[in-house]
Amino acid sequence: MSLLVLVVFIATITQCLVYSSAELQSFEHAPKPDGSLSFLVIGDWGRRGGYNQSQVALQMGYIGEQLDIDFVISTGDNFYDNGLKGIDDASFHHSFTKIYTAPSLQKQWYNVLGNHDYRGNVEAQLSPVLTNLDNRWFCSRSYVVNTEFVEFFFVDTTPFVDKYFTEPEDHVYDWRGTWPRKQYISNLLKDLDLALKQSNAKWKIVVGHHTIRSAGHHGDTEELVNQLLPILEANDVDLFMNGHDHCLQHISSFNSPIQFLTSGGGSKAWGGDVSWLNQEEMKFYYDGQGFMSVHVIQTELNIAFYDVFGNVLHKWNTFKQLHSTL
Ligand SMILES: *[C@@H]1O[C@H](CO)[C@@H](O)[C@H](O)[C@H]1NC(C)=O
Repeated sequence: MSLLVLVVFIATITQCLVYSSAELQSFEHAPKPDGSLSFLVIGDWGRRGGYNQSQVALQMGYIGEQLDIDFVISTGDNFYDNGLKGIDDASFHHSFTKIYTAPSLQKQWYNVLGNHDYRGNVEAQLSPVLTNLDNRWFCSRSYVVNTEFVEFFFVDTTPFVDKYFTEPEDHVYDWRGTWPRKQYISNLLKDLDLALKQSNAKWKIVVGHHTIRSAGHHGDTEELVNQLLPILEANDVDLFMNGHDHCLQHISSFNSPIQFLTSGGGSKAWGGDVSWLNQEEMKFYYDGQGFMSVHVIQTELNIAFYDVFGNVLHKWNTFKQLHSTL
């Protein structure tokens, strides 16, 4: 072997070791011809219609039609209690296909995994077989959806949370594909940072299952506050959307320009379970069931939260200049 070949060989090996992360998979989703985009956000839902899941689904259908939505985002915990057992688990039909039947909801669904999904067969939820059963379904661990002026970054948050490893109780988690854990997390953060830095989108929205900031039962997720939040702040992310706490919530922290939005009211709600309420930061907290909508154009973003009757509980909007100097 010549010296040159040897040097190239060693350099390649070293690079593989150092840059073992890859770019996040990215999908295009065209906005409407008028340059707008609308979608619904739902979390913590799959209970075969129980705990008002069907009522929430019905109202999503009406609001989805009013807003002429482009797609639906799920913040995870898609199937209770323990995810899907396999690709032939009937819960997929009874908790998803048979529930969200309104014509307006026959759109693409972008899903992430929650901790309850990790208690089942994760590979099943990620399988294209489910997309063959119901072509709305798409679930992946971490990925990007680009709509030209809005870019979405979906993040697999469950592997970040220490207690699922240190105190799993009687739950068995399906950690296939996430080992070694440290490497999985550091690659994911690196890939996310790169994808955010490369983004030219006017609006950047990050979606994960676990909370960053929350006044609900679970509260803040320390691991995400420490590891994920600094990356979001360094890259001008506008919204962080999550589930996990079974409530609807909007926090606008004075320490951060990011809006923290919880949409975890897809079925069972945790009434009365509030740990703190700081009036300055807490724009809205609702401990019943419901969902959220987002409507975006280049210069304006609107969000709204709805209860099981379709009543608007909270509205918020923000503006950006068409030609920003930032
Ligand atoms: C369904 O929603 C209604 C209205 O918010 C509430 O009163 C009721 O307790 C909910 N049912 C369940 C099973 O959560």
